[in-house]
Amino acid sequence: MPGWLKNAVFYEIYPQSFYDTNGDGIGDFNGIIEKLDYIRELGCNALWINPCFDSPFKDAGYDVRDYKKVAPRYGTNDDLYRLFEEAHKKGIHILLDLVPGHTSEEHPWFRESQKAENNEYTNRYVWTDHPFAPIKGYPYIGGESERGGVYLLNFFKCQPALNYGFLNCEEKWQLPPDHPDCIATREAMKDVMRFWLDHGCDGFRVDMAASLVKNDDEAKSGTCALWRNIREMLDEEYPEAAMVSEWGDPVKALNSAGFHMDFYLNRRGNGYNTLMRDYETGEDNSFFKKDGKGDITRFLNEYLPDYAATKEHGYYCMLTCNHDTLRPKYNLDDRELKLAYAFLFTMPGVPYLYYGDEIGMRYQELPTKEGGYHRTGSRTPMQWNAEKNAGFSDGSAEDLYLPVDLSAGAPDVAAQEMDANSLLNTVKALLRLRQEEEDLQADAGFEVVYAESGKLPFVYRRGNLLLALNPSLETVTAAADVGNRTVRFSIGKGNAEDGMITMEPQSFLVLK
Ligand code: GLC
Ligand code: CA
Repeated sequence: MPGWLKNAVFYEIYPQSFYDTNGDGIGDFNGIIEKLDYIRELGCNALWINPCFDSPFKDAGYDVRDYKKVAPRYGTNDDLYRLFEEAHKKGIHILLDLVPGHTSEEHPWFRESQKAENNEYTNRYVWTDHPFAPIKGYPYIGGESERGGVYLLNFFKCQPALNYGFLNCEEKWQLPPDHPDCIATREAMKDVMRFWLDHGCDGFRVDMAASLVKNDDEAKSGTCALWRNIREMLDEEYPEAAMVSEWGDPVKALNSAGFHMDFYLNRRGNGYNTLMRDYETGEDNSFFKKDGKGDITRFLNEYLPDYAATKEHGYYCMLTCNHDTLRPKYNLDDRELKLAYAFLFTMPGVPYLYYGDEIGMRYQELPTKEGGYHRTGSRTPMQWNAEKNAGFSDGSAEDLYLPVDLSAGAPDVAAQEMDANSLLNTVKALLRLRQEEEDLQADAGFEVVYAESGKLPFVYRRGNLLLALNPSLETVTAAADVGNRTVRFSIGKGNAEDGMITMEPQSFLVLK
C-alpha cells in the first residue's frame, strides 16, 4: 500500500474547466501548475485529472485516440511532465485517468482491427464472425467496417470495447481471457501505465474498472484476476503508485481485484445517495438537509458491512461529487454543505473533493457538450474571482468551453477567501484538522456510537476522537460516554457533559 495515501486528500480536476492561461477558453496544464498553491492551501495534497489525452472528445476525453499523447488543447506532453514535477515539489501526487475498457473509434488500433485481412490488432477488440448476427446481452455496431463482423461497445457508439476475453465463452468468436491476444491487450495497457509512471505520474483513477472481461461471473472473477495481475506488476515495479477504481463495489475492487482505493459511487437509492442526493428517488430526505427527515441508518446499513469487510485490504472512499454527478449544491445550501463535508472529510478512506465544490459551485442547466448530457452542468469553468469570466479565462465569453456561472449569487474563490465564515474557509479548516489529527486519516478506526433511525444526533468515533453531527434545525441530545474531553473543532454549537451530548441546530463537534 503506497504510504502517501494515509493522509492523502484528493482534488478532482476536470481540465477543460479549471484555469485557462492562453485565452483560448479552455483550461490547460499551465493553468493547473499556476493553481498548485491554491490546491495546497486548500488542504489537498493529491490530484486526479480527468482524461487529458488525444481524443475526438465525443465523451469529453473518455474516448482516447492516443494513450501516450496529451490533447493539444491542454498543452504538450512536456507541459504535463512539468506539472508532475512542480506538483511533486509541493508535495502533491497526481493520478491520471486510465480508460482501459475501450478506446475511441478513431484509435489506430481500432482502425487496424476493422480491416478485412488479419493483423496484430484483429483481436484487440471484440468482433463477431458475421456482419449481421447480433451480440447477445451487449450493445454492438455493424455495417461500419470492411471486416465481416459486428463489434462490441463499452459505452457510447464511439467507444468500441477492448478485448480482454470472455470468462464463459459461448460463441466461437469469443476468446478466453488467457488467449494470447487478450493477454496482449492487458500488456498493452500495462505499457501505457509504465509510460506515464516513468514520466512522473503517481498512479491512475481507473475508468469502468469492472467492465473488462465479458460474460464474467457474479464475483467478477475474470476481471478481478486481470487487475490482480496488474497490481503484481505495480507492487514489483512501482510500489508507490496508487490505483483507485470506478467500481463502487469495495469487496470486489479492494479484496479481490487489488485496487488500493474504490469510490463509494452515487447510485440511485444507495447508502451514499441517502446522505446528499436522495431527491433522485423522490421526496428529498437526504441526511444533510436541515428539515431533519433524513436517517443515517440508511447509509450505515450499507456502509458498515462493506467497511468491515474491506478495511484491511484498501480504502473505500467518500467524494463530494464527480464529473458524472449533479453538484451537491443542487439541493444543499452552504450550511448544509459544511456539515456534509465535515462528515465526508472525517470518514475513513481517502476523501475526494470535486473542483468547485469547495465554494459551492452550482449545477447549471445547459445543453450537452462533448457527450456530457445532464452531466454537463457539473463541468462548468471554475469561478476564481469577480473579474472577466470569473477569472477562468482572458478569452472572449463565446469561446469558453462552457459558460461561466455569472448569475446573481454565484460563488467565487476570492470573495470566499475574504469571508471567515465561507464554505471555502470551512473546507480549509476541516482539511487542516484532518492533517493534524492522525485519528481522522485513512487508516484510523471508525465506530458508531449513537445512530438511531429517525433520531439525531449521529455520534461516531474515529480512533480516540468522538464526533457528533446534527444536520437538523432542532436541538438534540444523546447519551454517550464522553469522558474527560475538550472541544477540538466545531461548526455551530454543541457540548458534552455528564454523559450527554447536546447539539444545537445544524452543528458538528469533534471532541478530543
Ligand atoms: C465513466 C466516466 C464517464 C465516462 C464513462 C465512459 O463512467 O466517469 O465520464 O463517460 O466512464 O468512459
Ligand atoms: Ca487554454
